[in-house]
Amino acid sequence: MKHLKSLFVITIIFGIALTFQSRAAEVSSLRGPIDLDQDTKSPEMKKYPKDGEPIVRDYVQQPPLVPHSIARYKIKLKSNKCLSCHSWKNYRQYDATKISQTHFEDRDDNVLANVSARRYFCTQCHVPQVDAKPLVENEFKPVTAISGE
Ligand code: HEC
Ligand code: HEC
Repeated sequence: MKHLKSLFVITIIFGIALTFQSRAAEVSSLRGPIDLDQDTKSPEMKKYPKDGEPIVRDYVQQPPLVPHSIARYKIKLKSNKCLSCHSWKNYRQYDATKISQTHFEDRDDNVLANVSARRYFCTQCHVPQVDAKPLVENEFKPVTAISGE
């Protein structure tokens, strides 16, 4: 009886797996009409502009986009390359924007002496840009009331 039961469970699980597999084959991904279980050609490396003017923000709370290449800038446990230019200690020397005051606050609104852990991984929010064709159209419009237009 016990064997019968487990056989029944296995059959059900297998059935569910099969259903999902046939669904997966129908998914059309942004990579084009390819089988999702096949390796794809890696996309061409994009060329990031080396350095540019700050990029206009689209809404008040937007993390500013990075106007320079970040190719070899590593963020590790003991060192953060971004902070070597953007920290309050170094920003003047490199003529970089200093990190925002908000980056010193922890989640309980305590103001810390150093960058808060939740703002340590800069690229979680700040991303560089390339002049590339968008994969999907973006119709975002800022709320004019707060953008002051
Ligand atoms: C070698 C110094 C240097 C390093 C390292 C560096 N930056 Fe910058 N960054 C600058 C300078 C200088 C600017 C001001 C604009 C310009 O001249 O490119 C800037 C601008 C920015 C801005 C735009 C600020 C605004 O107000 O629009 C962001 C965001 C930024 N950097 C994020 C980063 C992140 C994230 C990293 C790490 C992955 C990083 N930067 C590493 C020098 C640096
Ligand atoms: C959780 C998201 C998040 C992380 C992580 C983060 N930032 Fe930001 N950053 C923002 C937002 C949102 C703003 C704009 C609003 C503000 O000032 O808080 C901003 C603003 C800035 C500015 C512009 C400040 C100004 O006065 O205009 C700089 C420079 C910057 N961040 C650099 C960094 C660096 C360097 C790191 C990593 C040490 C980092 N940020 C980590 C979200 C983030």
